[in-house]
Amino acid sequence: MCGIVAYVGNKEAYPIILKGLKRLEYRGYDSAGVALLNQKEILLYKKKGKVSKLEDYAADKEKQSTIGIGHTRWATHGPPNDVNAHPHLSGDGRYVIIHNGIIENYDSLKKELINRGHEFKSDTDTEVLVHLIEDICQNESLSLEDAVRTALNEVVGAYAIVVMDRETPDQLIAAKNSSPLVIGVGDEDFYLASDATPIIEYTKNVVYLEDGQIAVLKKGEEIKLSNIQNQTVTPYIQELEMNLEAIEKGGYEHFMLKEIYEQPQSIRNSTLGRLNLKNSLITLGGIEEFESKFLNANRIIFVACGTSWHSALVGEYMIEDVARIPVEVEYASEFRYRNPIINEKDIVIAISQSGETADTLAALEIAKKKGATIYGICNVVGSSIARATDAGSYTHAGPEIGVASTKAFTAQITILALMALSLANKKGSIAKSRYHNLLSQLNQIPELVEKALETNDQVKYIADLYQNAKNFLYLGRGYNFPVALEGALKLKEISYIHAEGYPAAEMKHGPIALIDEEMPVVAIATRKGSYEKVVSNIQEVKARDGKIIAIVTEGDTTVREMADHVIEIPETDEFLDPLITVIPLQLLSYHVAVMRDCNVDQPRNLAKSVTVE
Ligand code: F6R
Repeated sequence: MCGIVAYVGNKEAYPIILKGLKRLEYRGYDSAGVALLNQKEILLYKKKGKVSKLEDYAADKEKQSTIGIGHTRWATHGPPNDVNAHPHLSGDGRYVIIHNGIIENYDSLKKELINRGHEFKSDTDTEVLVHLIEDICQNESLSLEDAVRTALNEVVGAYAIVVMDRETPDQLIAAKNSSPLVIGVGDEDFYLASDATPIIEYTKNVVYLEDGQIAVLKKGEEIKLSNIQNQTVTPYIQELEMNLEAIEKGGYEHFMLKEIYEQPQSIRNSTLGRLNLKNSLITLGGIEEFESKFLNANRIIFVACGTSWHSALVGEYMIEDVARIPVEVEYASEFRYRNPIINEKDIVIAISQSGETADTLAALEIAKKKGATIYGICNVVGSSIARATDAGSYTHAGPEIGVASTKAFTAQITILALMALSLANKKGSIAKSRYHNLLSQLNQIPELVEKALETNDQVKYIADLYQNAKNFLYLGRGYNFPVALEGALKLKEISYIHAEGYPAAEMKHGPIALIDEEMPVVAIATRKGSYEKVVSNIQEVKARDGKIIAIVTEGDTTVREMADHVIEIPETDEFLDPLITVIPLQLLSYHVAVMRDCNVDQPRNLAKSVTVE
């Protein structure tokens, strides 16, 4: 987590850094800080809380500088306060650092440095690193670049760092291992950031730093790249495809709402160039490339976290249903530590919006070592997971800024649907007529999502009635069980109401004890495979006075008779139902959170990409 931004060149650094930090606030918002250099004096401003707090604090302070570094923090070592906020200074005040990641051996390094006379102000691992760099500079008479290299060779952990030296007012040193860092290359200047969003309006030319690389960025000079073993590396400058509009709110009150409403388009983008209805063809690059591996695979194993794990569950239902390949779905955080049995005939698929989730990345690396073929389904182009895989498919949902994932979920499911259908067609495990029918229904999904979004006013009305509930239960079966999990996750993460998702039939094995007149139960009861069974589950809730909010297929009359509220959505095949049923659940969590005055886009304690364990 944490967002870092830096600039060196001829422009005023502070406005560039401040704007960049606001764009990166989704990565953490416990504190923010900036360090600027003015006539060999380091101006350091740090504040607990969001970037706006830093902005207020620094408003009347000296900020003139053409070089600077900034940070927005998601706390790991030490509580969120002004002292633990980045940037951190070395003991002699000459060097200043920003850091995203975790230095795992910071404690032993800190003890050694204390023995050598260093004194620390904060609880952070980052301050240890800048003291270590200072110590090496002083005792080994090395240049800052070499001192950074030497220090990083002593460090265990993940980092993206930028270091500024009071005595070198036109140079920044940056390095990366496991945490992302992008360098924007301008005419005579450089921009650095955790992702490309702070850079996009200044330059489209970027270098994604690789693990173990160190960059020296000097105003007016070429970028100088080397690795931690001190070998020169030729920088690969690539062009950004993102545009500015995609990362702004475009008239919506929150990014989350904008992203919910973008889904007809983002789903269309996921199928673009891949779904050819006229010829009944699916072209998913990675699948074509590894066709025989996929068709002869023993198993497909999904590794993911959070919402991406929920879409993996949908993927399991889809692939087993039509392609008849055994699928397992694993929490990446469990998989990586449990010595899983994996071999060359397994395909491990990582699903990740950010492509930076530390557990998912580590799970991939383990599977890779054990010889599996590694596939990625990521949204962020050029992200660490995307680069670590043998092949993959980008979801093309566009930047997702709201911390609660919405359009990434439906884009992932769209890719999984394409993947399942493509494999099924190649294997001959699906009847031609069903294959054609599902392709044509998939092609219509964007219009159906559009219609499902029309439930917004009704959902808002229901949200108003239940905004003060203490608990919510979400029930679904089959393809809609993962959607129940996703609905519950959305509600709890942005409105802080306790919510649980359950397979509807499991309710009677425990959760039914919770049901009383205070308990809203969201039941997904579309007219599909287990419809009658879900209807029975709804009756069980009603018999105990629970309040039923039912998501039903247009025209349903049976559930209407027993539910307190029904939300009608358009009909599609069961296989594609999650793409529609999740829409009212996303809207419900959004409206409840707004009504409870919660910070929808930046819920407490969370961050958009979890780059630490
Ligand atoms: C929930 C949410 C998280 C992420 C999870 C994985 O709304 O956003 O649960 O889904 O942290 O993140 P990615 O997909 O970036 O690996």
